[in-house]
Amino acid sequence: MEERLQKYLAEAGIASRRKSEEWIASGRVKVNGVVVTALGTKIDPQKDQVLFDDQPVVISGEKKIYLMLHKPEGYVTTAKEQFGRPAVLDLVRDVKQRIFPVGRLDYDTSGLLLLTNDGELTYRLTHPKYDVDKTYIAKLYGVPDDMDLQKFRRGVMVDGRKTRPAKIRILEIEKDRRFCTAEIILHEGKNRQVRKMCDAIKHPVAQLKRVATGTLTLGDLPKGAYRPLTEKEVQYLKQLSAK
Ligand code: URA
Repeated sequence: MEERLQKYLAEAGIASRRKSEEWIASGRVKVNGVVVTALGTKIDPQKDQVLFDDQPVVISGEKKIYLMLHKPEGYVTTAKEQFGRPAVLDLVRDVKQRIFPVGRLDYDTSGLLLLTNDGELTYRLTHPKYDVDKTYIAKLYGVPDDMDLQKFRRGVMVDGRKTRPAKIRILEIEKDRRFCTAEIILHEGKNRQVRKMCDAIKHPVAQLKRVATGTLTLGDLPKGAYRPLTEKEVQYLKQLSAK
């Protein structure tokens, strides 16, 4: 059922209705990725994604749900998208709660993506302060030599700043050396960071898959499938973000 945006924000405990109106008017609220400043705007809490200062807004009291999705390539992690490309939430069919991705994976990246309606946990896990190791398997053009690998490990210049130390090891080299497969572990997650770091050592990414977030691993979850996190996994994430 549709309701007014300011009422929804107030119900979610963001602020009083009047204050919520101020924040809508000042452009801090997005609906489905678009800033909404009109006060009469109506939303459908079941269908629309509301962000306040780019953080998802949910009505508390709703049962918390935590899922791990194996995101396929060719899906965006935003809720809805202006270009009409498929969204990861289209893959989750039997869940009543409004869930949203924790962080993002590029359109052409596959792998582990957490989905939840726990706004607090999402906020903490995506805050730079709580950066947790993320493990990727990347197919790279060519084969980086030792110098390239050292450079990558120490940090490379990306968007005008040096990246934090990272891990990389080569797992496999194709016979003709046109490609190799590497395991990459990053402790930070800036936009397209793996791709940009690999560009910086002149071995661009041909394929990228996230296989772990901290100790949570994708395992053999099939592409496009999802599963609930175990109680232990949920506790792990909460303890991570409580530090
Ligand atoms: N780094 C990237 O370059 N892309 C992703 O999707 C995740 C990390």
